[in-house]
Amino acid sequence: MITLGIETSCDETAVCLLETQGDSYRVLGSAIHSQIDIHKEYGGVFPMLAKREHGKKLVPLLEKILTESNIPYENISIGNTQEIQDILSKEQDLCPLFLSSSLMTRKPCIDRIVVTHGPGLEPALWVGISFARALHKIWNIPIFGVNHMEGHVVSSFVHHSQSQGELIPFTIPPLPAVALLVSGGHTEIVYTKDLVTYELVGKTKDDAIGEAFDKVARMMNIPYPGGPVISAYAEYARTHAIESPITLPRPMIHTNDMNFSFSGLKTAVLYGLREHESMTDDEKKGLCREFEDAVTEVIITKTRKALDTHNPASLLVGGGVIANTHIRTALETLAREYGIPLHIPHMSLTGDNALMIAIAGSRKPDTMEQEEMRAQGNLSLSEK
Ligand code: KG4
Ligand code: ZN
Repeated sequence: MITLGIETSCDETAVCLLETQGDSYRVLGSAIHSQIDIHKEYGGVFPMLAKREHGKKLVPLLEKILTESNIPYENISIGNTQEIQDILSKEQDLCPLFLSSSLMTRKPCIDRIVVTHGPGLEPALWVGISFARALHKIWNIPIFGVNHMEGHVVSSFVHHSQSQGELIPFTIPPLPAVALLVSGGHTEIVYTKDLVTYELVGKTKDDAIGEAFDKVARMMNIPYPGGPVISAYAEYARTHAIESPITLPRPMIHTNDMNFSFSGLKTAVLYGLREHESMTDDEKKGLCREFEDAVTEVIITKTRKALDTHNPASLLVGGGVIANTHIRTALETLAREYGIPLHIPHMSLTGDNALMIAIAGSRKPDTMEQEEMRAQGNLSLSEK
């Protein structure tokens, strides 16, 4: 089966052509355009700018991977374009590009179109959904919606290969599993018996972890996305034994649930910076270390609680924040202590990508086809 995956939930425009054969898969083509440079100026992702960029990039990216992958196609001729124009009526950048593209005249031999329909920024999600629906209309290929967070779960057991086209086996983790999802927009722990349905075990009451990293970075005049820089500073402080001038709280660490709260931690950093105006660069790095330690301790305590409560056969982790080496190492130690395998994405798959969406979508039963789809900014993994 060949699946086209489309991801536009935040600031990456991504498309992927995936071939699945039983328990193996092959990437036929994949492209990601990151908008980070555009959003840097604003200190975060600006939804309407993200929408515009997705609208400009989807058509050329898909044309590129279709050409590169050499997927056979049949020539088609669309007489009346009114229906396509209706589907794309709110997509001012995408619509003209789509109508004048080779997508209108060539139908590739693919079996499924799958697209992220939430959670994420709704204007951004809509571009991907409208694009998928327009393709569905002209190519008459079934279309499926994928939860972005399910994509991050799946990314934890996808083997990475440098060489495009190689057939790679899936390693389905032992089930049931507990999954920790930590990204720029979400922080949650879920429990799954089948990797199809998910039970929400805990989530953040306010900021997501990535968001907290990014906000703290902004306070220190570090450009968006600040997570990687804060983490590099923290690592520097750790290796040079630099302590923080202030101690930060570990929010909700002692509560008897698996929920999180990071907004107080972020505010504590703000007050710390205000009170210690003359903080040296080294002391700031020490503060980053303290921040990363606080976040890590909370994550480990809550994940431990989830393992104690649900006794899973494996621990899965996904989301952009899991690029953080300190958090990765702490989770490796935790899984070892519990004697269960830890499935964690390869560094190249921690951020948003369309491969994880294509794989999640390719696993859906035919009955889940979903022609009418809308963007759901707050779509939860525990909803169908
Ligand atoms: O999953 P993702 O690519 O996008 C969302 O779906 O939100 O996650 C992006 C988030 C950003 O907040 C970024 O700062 C954070 O992941 N991040 C990190 C690191 N690398 C990326 N946070 C902490 N340490 C890192 N090394
Ligand atoms: Zn994400």
